[in-house]
Amino acid sequence: MTARLLPFSDDPIRPSSPASVSIQFDGAPIEGVSGQSIAGVILASGPLGFRRTSVSGKSRGVFCGIGVCFDCLVEVNGDRDVRACQRRAVDGDVVVTQHDALPGSIA
Ligand code: FES
Repeated sequence: MTARLLPFSDDPIRPSSPASVSIQFDGAPIEGVSGQSIAGVILASGPLGFRRTSVSGKSRGVFCGIGVCFDCLVEVNGDRDVRACQRRAVDGDVVVTQHDALPGSIA
């Protein structure tokens, strides 16, 4: 559990423990809870960035959190351009940081 994942006992609506979800992020197994988005699982485990910009390679993560900005694009089970804030995490998902270098760029 990290600082960004609250204890279930503090949830006033559903204080019981939900089912867990296990996904892989850049080769490392991470745990979340059933119903979380992929972004939510990643953020709760620690990393804030899971995409790199095309030009400078700078890290990006959740900006809007509602599917508008496309800052959270990741590759999920081989499918590119998945918005991590909009995709519910499914047990066994393999998530990879996405980076699309511009043609002819060094990154
Ligand atoms: S954080 Fe903006 S689309 Fe996902």
